[in-house]
Amino acid sequence: MMEKTAWHSAHGKVILFGEHAVVYGATALAAGIPDALRARAWRSEDEAYISIPAWSLKTAFFQGDGLLQKMFCMLTEKLQLPSRHFCIEIDARIPHASGLGASAAVAVASVRALGDLFDLGLENAEVNELAFACEVLAHGTPSGLDNTLATYGGVQTYRREEGGAYFADVTLARPFQLIVAQSGKKGYTAKTVARVRTARERDKARYDNIFGRIDELGRRAIDALSQGHIDALGPLFSDNQRLLRDLGVSCEEIEQVIGLAVGAGAAGAKLTGSGDGGSVLIAAMDEIRLSHMTQVLRVNKVPNMRVCLE
Ligand code: PMV
Repeated sequence: MMEKTAWHSAHGKVILFGEHAVVYGATALAAGIPDALRARAWRSEDEAYISIPAWSLKTAFFQGDGLLQKMFCMLTEKLQLPSRHFCIEIDARIPHASGLGASAAVAVASVRALGDLFDLGLENAEVNELAFACEVLAHGTPSGLDNTLATYGGVQTYRREEGGAYFADVTLARPFQLIVAQSGKKGYTAKTVARVRTARERDKARYDNIFGRIDELGRRAIDALSQGHIDALGPLFSDNQRLLRDLGVSCEEIEQVIGLAVGAGAAGAKLTGSGDGGSVLIAAMDEIRLSHMTQVLRVNKVPNMRVCLE
């Protein structure tokens, strides 16, 4: 076995406000999930594969034309790698197809590991750009939010316009914790984004009005959090969720988790990511309510974790 590189991390992400709307130019507010996933690489004589044991996945890079194959062919070309004989192992602490930015995190951590293996001295801006190219392969018209958060983490506002992507750190007046619960249904970004696109083509005015209202909620949340008014978050989550329902991207499984959370005293809850499955963000304002919520979710067999925003 050849020598392996060190582990290279990437962030996962939660979108607090602005999923889908961000694809059409709205400002989103999102936060990185630190060390959600890491990758290491090594050269190999005869094999070339990626393995992600946590997702029971192992696949050869250069046979077939699945997404990972396309992604690594593209990366090999763009990075002008001197050899196609390498393997990558991913240690994933977030589930895939769950709205937590797993595909962008795989891209970012893999690019960093390959950069180390082939001594490429890649800067974050290059890592981000390559991961964006992977996201284009994965779902056609990404906003670029996932790869940006996977690369840089933190709490950020993100907006994409024709001229490029604009993102900036948000300084929170104080840190706070959120619960991220799994709906139990996988959500597939490409499919959901395409569905919203088709629906918007049929009724542009209605959809752009919804995107504008989501943008407005995001801006109010940014103001509230920068001033330390974290109590405002719950009701804003619930307002955003109503608009996501109007977009048609919620589903029964998500609504069940939201119902459970609100019934147990959550200040508000919404889906995060592309929806139609995936994860739910729950705002519960203090440690007592956070612990109670975790307990209720556990009893109801809803996998969940805490994310600290600071
Ligand atoms: O489901 P995820 O984690 O891939 O998030 C998708 C977020 C969208 O706004 C729906 C699409 C995008 O490219 O921003």
